Amino acid sequence: MRDDAVQDDELQADWRWANTDDWEPPSELDTEIAHPARMYDYYLGGKDNFPADRDAAERIIAAMPYARLSARINRQFLGNAVAFAAERGIRQFLDIGTGIPAVGSTSEVAHRVAPDARVVYVDNDPIVLTHARALLANHPAGYTTVLQADLREPAAILDHPALRAAIDLAQPVALMLVAVLHFVRDEEEAQQVVAHLRDALAPGSMLILSHGSQDFMAPETAEAGAGIYSKASAPLVLRDRAQIESFFDGFELVAPGLVQLPLWRTDEAMLPADWQSVPGYAGVAVKA
Ligand SMILES: C[S@@+](CC[C@H](N)C(=O)[O-])C[C@H]1O[C@@H](n2cnc3c(N)ncnc32)[C@H](O)[C@@H]1O
Repeated sequence: MRDDAVQDDELQADWRWANTDDWEPPSELDTEIAHPARMYDYYLGGKDNFPADRDAAERIIAAMPYARLSARINRQFLGNAVAFAAERGIRQFLDIGTGIPAVGSTSEVAHRVAPDARVVYVDNDPIVLTHARALLANHPAGYTTVLQADLREPAAILDHPALRAAIDLAQPVALMLVAVLHFVRDEEEAQQVVAHLRDALAPGSMLILSHGSQDFMAPETAEAGAGIYSKASAPLVLRDRAQIESFFDGFELVAPGLVQLPLWRTDEAMLPADWQSVPGYAGVAVKA
């Protein structure tokens, strides 16, 4: 029997729990410190956040008024890139740094194109896991799996029995690192983590990546943003274009290459007037 099928009762319980008004956070959740997942939820207008998250997010919005727009545009990139991968035959998605499920999630988009696609969600924030598991109640067992794990420990993710039950690493996988690597320091071996994951992937696999960058903001704005996140549960590590491009080593970028986030396969005429303020890059690449 599949691991995720075994958890069915637990998932049903999560589903009810997530839909009641007397919602209580899981006991291991630290609500006193701002968490990137819940700050991002706040930027997107969600309600799965606490006063510490809202306070930090409001301070980010004051320093970076384009924070909400950036989150929305990042979600559009995620949806476009997942559809792109699924339309090109990818049937397995490993989405690390999933975030609290929102409209246009990886599984929603992938299953629209390919109902048989397998999606594994990985996040290190327990609140994400709770909500993502609730979503599983709507999916046939086995098509969507949720793991609590840390990107900084790639071996633990790749060796996890639930991942192995859902994903065949001998077949192509879309590895998704969307707006997550800027929470991993260089000292925590961001480059090596990506290389470790890449080496485990079969030829034809894809890397779907977006990343915040100081290239589009004044140095004092970057400093203010980093200062606010330094008191949250994860730091903000903005990187320049060359540093972000090096995450694609061993992959070949597909057109249009690594571009400013709003510009990835979008019609520029459809973008909001202030799209140029979005401070990040995005790209999709294929492993040869
Ligand atoms: C800005 S959100 C991005 C969510 C989603 N990928 C998207 O682009 O819409 C970043 C997510 O990465 C998660 N995260 C941060 N550091 C992580 C780590 N070391 N391992 C796993 N997840 C992490 C956070 O909990 C959060 O859910």
